[in-house]
Amino acid sequence: MLDELNRVEKVGLDALQAVQDEAALEAWRVTHLGRNSGLMQVFSRFGELSKEEKPVVGKRANEVKKALEDAYGTKAEQMRQVALKRSLEQEQLDVTLPGRSLPLGRLHPDTQTLRELYHVFGEMGFQVFRSREVESDEYNFQLLNFQIGHPARDMQDTYFVEVEGRGDNPIILRTHTSPGQIHAMRWISAMNPDNPAPVRIVLPGMCYRYEQVTKRHETQFEQLEGLAVGPGITFSDLKGTLADFARRMFGQNTRTRFRASYFPFTEPSAEYDVECFICSGAGCAVCKGSGWLEIGGCGMVHPVVLLNGGYDPERYSGFAFGLGPQRMAMLRHRIEDIRYFFQNDLRFLEQF
Ligand code: PHE
Repeated sequence: MLDELNRVEKVGLDALQAVQDEAALEAWRVTHLGRNSGLMQVFSRFGELSKEEKPVVGKRANEVKKALEDAYGTKAEQMRQVALKRSLEQEQLDVTLPGRSLPLGRLHPDTQTLRELYHVFGEMGFQVFRSREVESDEYNFQLLNFQIGHPARDMQDTYFVEVEGRGDNPIILRTHTSPGQIHAMRWISAMNPDNPAPVRIVLPGMCYRYEQVTKRHETQFEQLEGLAVGPGITFSDLKGTLADFARRMFGQNTRTRFRASYFPFTEPSAEYDVECFICSGAGCAVCKGSGWLEIGGCGMVHPVVLLNGGYDPERYSGFAFGLGPQRMAMLRHRIEDIRYFFQNDLRFLEQF
């Protein structure tokens, strides 16, 4: 039996030399250490041995078992190392790959458009003046020459905040940025009532109208008002300013057009159109074939409005305009529905 053990050991160790992969290693373990292995057969024949032989053979059998198990352990560890080395070589880490980018926040298209407008008008010498969104009827209408019951109020259906006890002067949400004209003129003229300083400002902000909500109309929307007051300002200053603005905003060759219109607070008044910057006037879907885009209203400040602002209409004149920043963004980016601006849908906002 001792010979048998020596043979089992030698055959086992020799066979292990040839093992190359994991499947072969497992097969080796079953053959040489498993239940039906030569070694286990020796153990099962133990009963045949005499009292004297038992300790000798037993000791040797345990030595062989330990030798085979140790050799198996060493081989398995060797193979693990080889496999690890190979996978490290094959799946190399490329440290020159660009990192994963983090999602970045961005400015709302309204903010982007307004900042562009501030920049353009800033270069032309206009300062930004802000005024309140919650207004009185007096500032929003009466001081702008809309008397109580004036039919032009129909164009600006109004949200009322406080009516009771306020008589003819309810608190409302401003329907346009024009009440800022009065606030600005009063604030500036109050500093030097006899000789008020000239005004050259833009007034941005949200306006509110009780409108049927559609693709083109929202109940809240942005406006950018412009106001220039000083001695000797004429309609050609207005035309020159808005023509220059269009070239700076939409491109050097952009043309502008003025059409007679009516606003109670300007006289004369005009609608201000810009040559379609999508088709350069040829006519396309965005300008509905006309070649022109309506951008806002404008006119010479009405003498009554100058007076209400603290400026003597005999000595001062001025022009004003009101533009729609969201309309400009819609035309420029071909946004077809104004409601996107307030839905906070990231799929929309991430495009700007
Ligand atoms: N406030 C006018 C509107 O909202 C636009 C406008 C502003 C017209 C300034 C003339 C001068 O319709």
